[in-house]
Amino acid sequence: MNVVVADSGPLLDRVLGLTYDIWNEGLTERAYAQWYRAQIRTPWGRQHLQRFALVDDAGGLLATAKRYRYRVRLDGRFGWMAGIGAVFTPLPHRGQGYASQLIERLLEMERRDGVWFAGLFSEIGTSFYERLGFAAVPIDEVTIRVDRKAGAPAMLVRVGDDRDLPALEEMHRVRSSSVRLALDRDRSLIHYALSKKRMLAGLGPVGLRQVEFVVAEEGVSAVAYAVLHGNANGWTLEEAGDRDPAGARLGAMLQVLVAREPSAPMPLIRAWWPQAFPVPPQLALTDRSAARDVFMVRPLADIAMPEKAEDVFYWHSDHF
Ligand SMILES: CC(C)(COP(=O)(O)OP(=O)(O)OC[C@H]1O[C@@H](n2cnc3c(N)ncnc32)[C@H](O)[C@@H]1OP(=O)(O)O)[C@@H](O)C(=O)NCCC(=O)NCCS
Repeated sequence: MNVVVADSGPLLDRVLGLTYDIWNEGLTERAYAQWYRAQIRTPWGRQHLQRFALVDDAGGLLATAKRYRYRVRLDGRFGWMAGIGAVFTPLPHRGQGYASQLIERLLEMERRDGVWFAGLFSEIGTSFYERLGFAAVPIDEVTIRVDRKAGAPAMLVRVGDDRDLPALEEMHRVRSSSVRLALDRDRSLIHYALSKKRMLAGLGPVGLRQVEFVVAEEGVSAVAYAVLHGNANGWTLEEAGDRDPAGARLGAMLQVLVAREPSAPMPLIRAWWPQAFPVPPQLALTDRSAARDVFMVRPLADIAMPEKAEDVFYWHSDHF
């Protein structure tokens, strides 16, 4: 048995064909394949995302997983997290240890490359990954209530642009600096996260999804921003930033967005709201619950892993 890269040729076709039913996100089979191929061609994806497969001696697929490399800041030092995603074993091969073996072999490769820890978002509860040495770290999901009483504040909100990315990077760096674990969200990663969502919306049926990237600016630079992803169920605030320590510009920006449709009922807005991010005066966070996909980590080096929600600064944008 071998672990091989599965990002091209018939092996990738097979993986995409088999995983389509689970992770299609409402796309056609063709669009689902295009979406993955486009992700690995983005500037960040080319360097940080690969799909691997455990294959038998004849090259037959036994199990597959994606492996991301995220630069992280943990307890004030910079290192790497291996993000493991889309772990999958074809039905006839399940229950024979192939997924476990693929994960162990990938993590051994990661450890040898100096990666500090592995992280994943489990869609199947915690037991399978606990057996592999992973432990859950809570991430809070909340509903955002926007105070509509004051109406739309007089504030210029414009569509965000690539030229805003350095300002977004800086807002994230400052805001997350007091938290034990955060991704090092440089402009390239922010660009990837935005592109991934936009491509998903663009490849899907018309009207199924929308992505909005809006900024508030002062002078020529963005001083607050929000990325929202909407579908029939409502909106997700994927990520946000504000140079104002109270977050008042972000709050005003959301008031502006909500005021575009004054007669419509308040849309449901959900977010993974980092505890270290201030709650703007115009907003209330309600219905706090654990995120549906469970964030789990396993150390690959001699490091102390975060354990509590307050230890982690993580936006839904970076869910993988
Ligand atoms: C989860 C999955 C990858 C496991 O693959 P596998 O090669 O059968 O895994 P292994 O043989 O290494 O381990 C099998 C064990 O995992 C357990 N397991 C499988 N699916 C599970 C699930 N959904 N929840 C909890 N445990 C599960 C099995 O019960 C089995 O336990 P046992 O050894 O006590 O019988 C496979 O079931 C799969 O492809 N599922 C669909 C895709 C998916 O949900 N992936 C996970 C995304 S986070």
